[in-house]
Amino acid sequence: MEFETLIRERRSVRRYKENTPIDHELLVSVLKQAQQAPSWKNLQPARSYVIEDPQVLKDFIGKTLPAGNQAKAINASAIIVTSFVQNRSGFTNDVPDNELGNLWGAYDLGLRDAYLILAARNAGLDTLIMGLRDGQKIRSFLNIPENETIASVIAVGYRDEEVHDRPRKDLNDVTVFFRI
Ligand SMILES: Cc1cc2nc3c(=O)[nH]c(=O)nc-3n(C[C@H](O)[C@H](O)[C@H](O)COP(=O)(O)O)c2cc1C
Repeated sequence: MEFETLIRERRSVRRYKENTPIDHELLVSVLKQAQQAPSWKNLQPARSYVIEDPQVLKDFIGKTLPAGNQAKAINASAIIVTSFVQNRSGFTNDVPDNELGNLWGAYDLGLRDAYLILAARNAGLDTLIMGLRDGQKIRSFLNIPENETIASVIAVGYRDEEVHDRPRKDLNDVTVFFRI
């Protein structure tokens, strides 16, 4: 797909087609493409926990998401929980290289997830990144180690709604150009 079209077609989808499994190899391919994202010293701190089993999926959604997000994700075909390993990106021998510290790990994970949602769309899939979730419950449900910071829960599936562009700020309100 042409890149600009892909970027515009990728929208947060909040209603998914029921009982529509995603081919496992397609998910693997999307996750592999996402691994091509840049990261600090190529340390690749991003981690993924992928739930494909429909029963586990329902249980997970019911236990870890607030009601609003449960309703949106309920028919998703898969869920990807994303995390990053702490004290890697932005650190040398466990000492932060600058004032951002573990925000660099979050930066790397954000880049990885940007690649992931675009690769998903290019594969005909839709996504919803959810920041409203219960991190503690996710950690115990998936047994995620304490040295990983849990970030988003990403619903993946096939859209069952029409989606529209959401307005973006004027470029000049968020950008400073220094030109001759
Ligand atoms: C870090 C992050 C957290 C988000 N959390 C939620 C969420 O909990 N629930 C939700 O419905 N949308 C959530 N979204 C989706 C945003 O609302 C959406 O990306 C934004 O409105 C722009 O719309 P678009 O993705 O369709 O372009 C989140 C997006 C990001 C990047």
